[in-house]
Amino acid sequence: MMVEIYVKPVIRMALPALALALAAVSFAADLTGNWVVAEDMHDGTFRRTYLDLKQDGANVGGHIRTTQNYFTVSASTPAGTDAWTLSAHMVDGRGERLATYAVKLAGDELHVAIQRPGRGPAAEMVAHRAPAGEGAYPARVEPAALHKVPSNGLAKTPPMGWNSWNKFAGRIDDATVRSIADAMASNGMKDAGYQYINIDDTWEADHRDAQGNITTNKKFPDMKALADYIHAKGLKLGIYSSPGPNTCAGYDGSYGHEEQDAATWAAWGIDYLKYDWCGARNLYKDEEMQAVYQKMGDALHKTGRPIVFSLCQYGRQDVWKWGPEVGGNLWRTTGDIRDAWDSMAKIGFDQDPLASYAAPGHWNDPDMLEIGNGGMTDTEYRTHMSLWAMLAAPLLAGNDLRSVPKPVLDILTNRDVVAIDQDKDGRQGRRIWQSGDQEARQEAWIRELAGGAQAIAIFNRAAADANVTLKWSDLGMKKAPKSARDLWEHREVSLIGAGYSGNVPGHGVVLLRVGK
Ligand code: GLA
Repeated sequence: MMVEIYVKPVIRMALPALALALAAVSFAADLTGNWVVAEDMHDGTFRRTYLDLKQDGANVGGHIRTTQNYFTVSASTPAGTDAWTLSAHMVDGRGERLATYAVKLAGDELHVAIQRPGRGPAAEMVAHRAPAGEGAYPARVEPAALHKVPSNGLAKTPPMGWNSWNKFAGRIDDATVRSIADAMASNGMKDAGYQYINIDDTWEADHRDAQGNITTNKKFPDMKALADYIHAKGLKLGIYSSPGPNTCAGYDGSYGHEEQDAATWAAWGIDYLKYDWCGARNLYKDEEMQAVYQKMGDALHKTGRPIVFSLCQYGRQDVWKWGPEVGGNLWRTTGDIRDAWDSMAKIGFDQDPLASYAAPGHWNDPDMLEIGNGGMTDTEYRTHMSLWAMLAAPLLAGNDLRSVPKPVLDILTNRDVVAIDQDKDGRQGRRIWQSGDQEARQEAWIRELAGGAQAIAIFNRAAADANVTLKWSDLGMKKAPKSARDLWEHREVSLIGAGYSGNVPGHGVVLLRVGK
């Protein structure tokens, strides 16, 4: 009994007087039982939080299952005869997280206020009694021994497309996805190489059918019909799930149903899966990630359908070292991007050490594009696009494609820049030169391209414009390149003399393609 080991010493040491007083208090109230809070998501699903509690006099123990986390009550302190403050901890694969739950019995209701460190004011909710066992956390399934999942032969160049999360988050539905596909097929993006329409989290129902098949919520009435529609446009459809029982947004994950879900997606005509760790952290340690991802890699392989496998576990456990082993075509290298210069720059410019792990079929993924979402200037979005191209990063637009201002469309569809990203040799660019302070410095990156050409990006991370002078030797060259094209100015530039000298706007970039 973890509660006794943990709680009693705490009370004795910290609150001896209260402990003595409590002996005399009688706890007529009994909150023992399973309690549920169901939040209506207005898409036909409910997000449920279960508090499975056991009261023993002054002490309360048990478990709390939120939409994506599983807590064990590790200490309880009475706050009257019918109220307690519960300390609950979860193990998230690599450490402990704590939350405090203030609970109070009020007739047939349990009033709950949750406080998580650093998460602002307590969230309040009202729980009702639920049948015993409902919402119980599934038992852990041991992952299989490590082996090599055969390569699917996909993503010879970094995947290009669109994903719903950055702009729409939970406000994505069938009609919106169709209209985004219409836009991509007609606004020049498809012609520029964009292909995947990826539905992120929140498409799932909150229960499986009688055979255990995953089903959609009412925002997506017929996923097969949607796939047919997307395919008829010459585009491909992607979907999202988690190796845990729940996704990050608290919807149903694929835990315990991996092969069944892969088969369902294949039958729907899905072409791409983003598989997001989230709920799996309650069951597995970070060290087990490879084995857990391998399970879905095997399941996708077994379907026989070509499905791009995108690993989303925020770059933990040096995923770039084992991503290809589990059949992964791309792996997130960082936490979530935000539509802000600081976030984009920190993520993008930190990618240099991972260059050697990118290769045709297997890409580092510094997260989806924020271009056009409004939090950065067009100059900054050109830097975002250029940097992702230099990094051989997947180009997954994250804006509303139905209403793209011309300058934003010009950034996303710049053929010369897309060609850098999609270079068939798949060698990720490296930082070769830098000057100034970390966050405000100028940097030059080089990417080796097929046939001996090179892309040179000169970035200015400072807010103010900068004059940059580089010697050819700074770029590892013996002499001036034979030709150079400025890929944003769309013109040839003459490069003579000892190096390159030019103005780079604040937070901007000069992107050149040079021939030797
Ligand atoms: C995580 C991922 C995001 C997005 C959300 C959806 O935060 O990193 O890219 O998929 O989950 O819930």
